[in-house]
Amino acid sequence: MSQEQKTSIFQAKTIAEARLWKQREIALIGQTLGFVPTMGNLHRGHGSLIAEAKKQCDKVAVSIFVNPIQFGPNEDFEKYPRTLEADLELCTKLGADMVFTPSVSELYSRALEQSSFVDVPEELTNKLCGKFRPGHFRGVATVVSKLFNIIQAHKAFFGEKDYQQLLVIKRMAEDLNYACEVIGLPTVREADGLAMSSRNQYLSAEQRELAPVIFQILTQLKIQVREQNISIKKALETARTDLKIVGQDKLKFDLQYLDACDPNTLEIISNDAQNPDLHPEIVFLIAAKLNEVRLIDNLKV
Ligand code: PAF
Repeated sequence: MSQEQKTSIFQAKTIAEARLWKQREIALIGQTLGFVPTMGNLHRGHGSLIAEAKKQCDKVAVSIFVNPIQFGPNEDFEKYPRTLEADLELCTKLGADMVFTPSVSELYSRALEQSSFVDVPEELTNKLCGKFRPGHFRGVATVVSKLFNIIQAHKAFFGEKDYQQLLVIKRMAEDLNYACEVIGLPTVREADGLAMSSRNQYLSAEQRELAPVIFQILTQLKIQVREQNISIKKALETARTDLKIVGQDKLKFDLQYLDACDPNTLEIISNDAQNPDLHPEIVFLIAAKLNEVRLIDNLKV
């Protein structure tokens, strides 16, 4: 084989193929397996997860599955970008060893009314994104639990951009005694601060120009609370007002939430009017829509 030729990646389309690969390539020869679950349309954010998985484990498996049960009835399941060829190419380039690409009927072989689900306690799932996307975290926890059972990796890697999702998955793995260690990695950003997301491609040119304001607002909160000693409550009030006034008539942010939380429990501390130093760790979380495009981000301070 010439130097330039790359070995093509193993694509498992069924659960049986994924299990066989795991047995042959990992279990029998005592290797460690890292796992990066995705919905495809891979970008540099996913790339950083695969790269870290490669650093920490002998072999890396990536799953690509647009999970219907984590989308609400009026959400973007149908139009979610599906770019399998490019994704397989990127996974090969980044040195992943296996890509699991099941069909919907392979993962959900029964009608949903007859299926089992994983429910993580409401204290983590009913607030923030959970309030605006009912059933979303049940869908995420269920599919990740299935994927963990199929892939049986030693470590799984998720982006901190979906901060609430990361805590929900950590809690599920802990409560259900998965042997897989759940690892969160920092958000990868565009040069102007916008958090990388497959949904960014829904943005029009004007929306894309305005979108980095989300990260600017989070950065302003960090400065006010940590450097200017402004109370969390006051800083959030200012940020919510600032977000309302940016943009033009037809292009305004529709804020779903902007809150300060405890980074481990997601307990909301937004109304704390006292000295912010009382909270050595805070995570600010935001979700806002630009017309129909929903953007989320967060910053730990
Ligand atoms: O973050 C995602 O891409 C998805 O929610 C996940 C974790 C792959 C589950 O479908």
